[in-house]
Amino acid sequence: MSRRTFVAGNWKMNTRADAAVALAGAVRDGLPSDSRCEVALCPPSLYLHAVRQTLGDSPIGVGGQNLYPEADGAFTGEINAAMLVDVGCRYVILGHSERRQLMGETDQDVASKCRAALDAGLTPIVCIGETLEQREAEMTNSVVDSQIRGSLHGLSPEDAARIVLAYEPVWAIGTGRTATPEQAEAVHAFIRALLGELFGEAVANQIRIQYGGSVKPGNAAELLGQPNIDGALVGGASLKAEDFLGIIAAAPQS
Ligand code: PGA
Repeated sequence: MSRRTFVAGNWKMNTRADAAVALAGAVRDGLPSDSRCEVALCPPSLYLHAVRQTLGDSPIGVGGQNLYPEADGAFTGEINAAMLVDVGCRYVILGHSERRQLMGETDQDVASKCRAALDAGLTPIVCIGETLEQREAEMTNSVVDSQIRGSLHGLSPEDAARIVLAYEPVWAIGTGRTATPEQAEAVHAFIRALLGELFGEAVANQIRIQYGGSVKPGNAAELLGQPNIDGALVGGASLKAEDFLGIIAAAPQS
């Protein structure tokens, strides 16, 4: 079955107000009107509204980089799913390795956030991936297995059909060191088989699995050409419109 390629830009804590609007405008203007790719921009929360306004009626969506899984209340400094929806978000990145490592997010946290995102009508982009140490200890599959079981805990097959996964080997993020297409494909195939076990084959075949970790225009075609790689979550290269558009252009058009 065909899964529509999905390329998302994770701007992290980069860009300032003017640069965010300029970048969004350049991506909007540069996206070919016949592109078959689904595209999202995930700026820092403060700029979501401005980026959304800049995109106007372009098909490009916006997404948050995190949320707090509670309804309104006394949670100083936090932003919930309804607020992301308010400013026009369609997506939210959850469980990025930087949040897992720097903010101590657990699989259980990610599962609560995923539930909140789905309940609010957002598409969660759930990130998983092993560290270099874990890969060298041949623990990649077991790490990914437990992250998926934990982060997607409690989801029904109908819920699961609405999520996107992003496999991002931690050693490839921001390092310029990309997984080879074969390495990435092997993990993506493993993930799809696991999703089949958890949610049934039909749902597993529907779920998009993005690859993330130093994706660039020069390596995107080979990565996105793999049978189980359905898109990319792009950090550094999403900060330059030309590079981000180059990755989108490299996506299979069928
Ligand atoms: P990178 O980041 O493309 O800069 O490696 C990817 C990510 O962290 O989502």
